[in-house]
Amino acid sequence: MRTATYVPNKRNVQGTTTSIFQPDLLIPMTIFSAVGGSRRRLDCRLVFAIVIAILLPCYCTGYPSLQRDSCFAALYAFGDSYTDTGNFVRAIYPSSPIGRPPYGETFFRRPTGRASDGRLVVDFLAEAVGLPLLPPYLAELSTAAAEVWRRGACFAVGWSAAMDAAFFRELGLKNLSWTGLSLAAQLQLFQDLQHSLTPEPGYRDMMSNSLFLVGEFGVNDYQYFLFLAKNVTDVYSAIPNVTSTISMGIKDLIRLGARTLIVPGVFPLGCLPNLLTLFKSERNEDYEPRTGCLKFLNELSTRHNLRLQEELDRLRELHPEVAIIYADYYGAATEIFNFPKKFGFKTPLTACCGGGKGPYNYSPLVNCGDKGSKVCDDPSQYVSWDGIHLTEAASEIVARGVLEGLYAVPSVAETCSSFSM
Ligand SMILES: *[C@@H]1O[C@H](CO)[C@@H](O)[C@H](O)[C@H]1NC(C)=O
Ligand SMILES: *[C@@H]1O[C@H](CO)[C@@H](O)[C@H](O)[C@H]1NC(C)=O
Ligand SMILES: *[C@@H]1O[C@H](CO)[C@@H](O)[C@H](O)[C@H]1NC(C)=O
Repeated sequence: MRTATYVPNKRNVQGTTTSIFQPDLLIPMTIFSAVGGSRRRLDCRLVFAIVIAILLPCYCTGYPSLQRDSCFAALYAFGDSYTDTGNFVRAIYPSSPIGRPPYGETFFRRPTGRASDGRLVVDFLAEAVGLPLLPPYLAELSTAAAEVWRRGACFAVGWSAAMDAAFFRELGLKNLSWTGLSLAAQLQLFQDLQHSLTPEPGYRDMMSNSLFLVGEFGVNDYQYFLFLAKNVTDVYSAIPNVTSTISMGIKDLIRLGARTLIVPGVFPLGCLPNLLTLFKSERNEDYEPRTGCLKFLNELSTRHNLRLQEELDRLRELHPEVAIIYADYYGAATEIFNFPKKFGFKTPLTACCGGGKGPYNYSPLVNCGDKGSKVCDDPSQYVSWDGIHLTEAASEIVARGVLEGLYAVPSVAETCSSFSM
């Protein structure tokens, strides 16, 4: 039986006192913070004694499916640099700073092409469902064996947007140096791979036994729109295009036979050090008093996420046989920005690694790893790794929020246990 779905860190190995969530959520969380089997049962009994009715079926059966060898035959992921396990750096732009130390220093102890000091949300997801960390498709296309691809692949590429380059050029972004792949282009790569690996009639089985992570998408779309917009609030008008394009991608996967999809919303963009730097304002009222995040960008994220969920509701109605899970990255991350100390974070709006002078430690001219940049001693005390991307510590919290059901609708565990593999 598979036990440790997460490599425990100092935040969660000590059980009851170190829940990473709010006090009212502390009790259920202790179950997952226990390390060994007997501890797990003890916590279970405790919880039973306290709140039998609420927790009965879901927590004390211990998310059985996630403990099994694997609920899914494979995991395929699409998205941008938040999900890219190495495509951008290793196949497209090798001289990117992301390919150099200190990237990767915490977990892999070397740069892997991930835009973080360690693992990404997709890595924690792969571990939780008992699958290998995803090989980057473009980077390992010619070297990895077919068996490897049958268990999963990452098609996410840094700088990708849901929309394609032609769309932005038509809008007037003439000088766009386009290095990512649109969602449609990533889906095409996936289909090419699968048709070569799994000819009919096995194709639909392969699709229905696989888990798909579609996103996050949107961050780069909105960045491009922000370059174009004369008035920053104009960027809200881009939301229907972006969300309907994501929805079309999901439809394509369902048409091909996908039965379980996780679709993340975007993070609170107003809390990213790079955007806080670029859109710095003199007006106090432009910032959320509690978090110091920029209101108009969080509003953008919120509106995108609401619209995306409406699209998902429509798809669920059309395809009741398909599990479409909304992963609320925004909610999980907002928990961190609202209660940073509870999670062991010091200054949640400051990048661990960067060359900025101000409070955010971000400069567009001095990347993390460049001469003149500095890296913090303990990345686990920081939410932002390089001003744009999350630290492993923050990714783990977001992943747990999604996997343990609080920030996923419906819960991943529910979906997984319906698979009897
Ligand atoms: C596009 O880039 C060229 C060369 O960098 C520059 O001269 C030109 O002004 C740019 N055009 C726009 C619309 O930004
Ligand atoms: C931007 O547009 C919005 C709505 O169209 C308007 O309310 C706002 O005042 C504008 N802001 C600026 C700085 O022009
Ligand atoms: C973007 O939205 C506009 C307005 O709704 C629509 O006319 C256009 O076809 C959309 N473009 C794409 C590529 O979805």
